[in-house]
Amino acid sequence: MLRMKDKIALVFGAGSVGPGWGNGNATAVAYAREGATVVCVDVNLDAAQATLAIILAEGGKGLALAADVTKAAEITAVVDRTLEDFHRIDVLHNNVGINLPGGAADATEDSFKRVMDVNLTSAFLTCKTVLPVMEKQGKGAIINISSLAAIRWTGYPYVSYYASKAALTHFTRAIAIEFAGKGIRANSILPGLMDTPHVQKQISGYHGSPAEMKAKRDALSPMKRQGDGWDVAWASVFLASDEAKFINGVELPIDGGMHVTVAGSLPS
Ligand SMILES: NC(=O)c1ccc[n+]([C@@H]2O[C@H](COP(=O)([O-])OP(=O)(O)OC[C@H]3O[C@@H](n4cnc5c(N)ncnc54)[C@H](O)[C@@H]3O)[C@@H](O)[C@H]2O)c1
Repeated sequence: MLRMKDKIALVFGAGSVGPGWGNGNATAVAYAREGATVVCVDVNLDAAQATLAIILAEGGKGLALAADVTKAAEITAVVDRTLEDFHRIDVLHNNVGINLPGGAADATEDSFKRVMDVNLTSAFLTCKTVLPVMEKQGKGAIINISSLAAIRWTGYPYVSYYASKAALTHFTRAIAIEFAGKGIRANSILPGLMDTPHVQKQISGYHGSPAEMKAKRDALSPMKRQGDGWDVAWASVFLASDEAKFINGVELPIDGGMHVTVAGSLPS
């Protein structure tokens, strides 16, 4: 059975910052495998097109568009084009997120504001644009990719990331309640330690070689290994599908149980 048959899914951050499977491209492909038509949006058009190429090669349907999620006009253009081509938006998936280093005393004001813009204001802008569409439909599902860092110190001194993801999670809860009576559900996913190109690119500066980083992150996990983009993708499929029709306002950790433990400490 195709769990997302006939649904139109709009995925912001549908590419990957490096070769391989990240949370965004795996989720876009998983949505398509379950029957959704997927609008793949990325600031890097080549990255969006690479994901779309996989979807089309597997016999799926979709469209690739370029947009920067910090720019309201570009989000509006994406939503307009999606409605023009497909006439509805069933799933809004916000995957974009960045880390910039810095603790509370040494992060720069510019870096703090940039992370807030990309990780939090972006979701406000996409939700603000898509919610009226979902309201008219009387139905919709929003999935915001937060992080275990929203609720835990995960070992890295990046205060803007913690603050932005905590705010994104509660922003999502607020939407869940404000729009619950209108057939719209909103949920957050909290990935823990995931082995993705994003980590290789954005976190590796805190460690030695990629192999050392992998070994340290694997060791911290209760399951003694990290997750991957597909763990986030299949959780997203469930939350986006009608199987989750009574699930609203939750934070789902995808972390091998790490949220239950007394946090380890990285980097060491
Ligand atoms: N990998 C992990 O360990 C981990 C853990 C917790 C949370 N997360 C969260 O997962 C999400 C990213 O996962 P991923 O593996 O797909 O990462 P990724 O860094 O590969 O991002 C996916 C895409 O987002 C695009 N992007 C970046 N800035 C953008 C912008 N301003 N506008 C539009 N697109 C933009 C990139 O070009 C990239 O193709 C983030 O929200 C991150 O905070 C990741």
